[in-house]
Amino acid sequence: MAADTMRASPRVVAGGAGFLGSDLCERLLRLGHSVLCVDNLTTGARGNLDELTEEPRFRLMLHDVSEPLRTGLGELGAWLEGQRTDDRTEAAADELRRRGLVA
Ligand SMILES: NC(=O)c1ccc[n+]([C@@H]2O[C@H](COP(=O)([O-])OP(=O)(O)OC[C@H]3O[C@@H](n4cnc5c(N)ncnc54)[C@H](O)[C@@H]3O)[C@@H](O)[C@H]2O)c1
Repeated sequence: MAADTMRASPRVVAGGAGFLGSDLCERLLRLGHSVLCVDNLTTGARGNLDELTEEPRFRLMLHDVSEPLRTGLGELGAWLEGQRTDDRTEAAADELRRRGLVA
């Protein structure tokens, strides 16, 4: 699927504070996605994400990805849910377009 036709939606980047991961986070944001970066900072650094921390569609979660990721509760879960709402809104708009109710 071409990058510009991908539906914008939340993406999780494991190791997103690393050399490659931080670049991936940046590119996904540029494509319009929200990004949850999950990293335990063993070799990565917050400094790799300096340019992203002011971005409201970006969140860093300090977590070891070899452990289960539970985002159902708290501020992070609410944020993810909010990002999904955008998706639902877009899906609803697509349905209205499909039915010819909106242009
Ligand atoms: N300037 C440069 O050229 C430069 C700079 C850095 C790295 N490199 C090289 O680039 C290559 C690839 O770098 P990379 O991005 O794969 O490595 P990286 O170490 O930069 O990134 C891996 C990321 O995964 C995270 N991580 C590791 N285990 C984790 C776990 N269990 N849970 C959560 N997070 C975890 C680390 O904290 C880190 O942020 C390496 O060979 C490296 O030497 C080059």
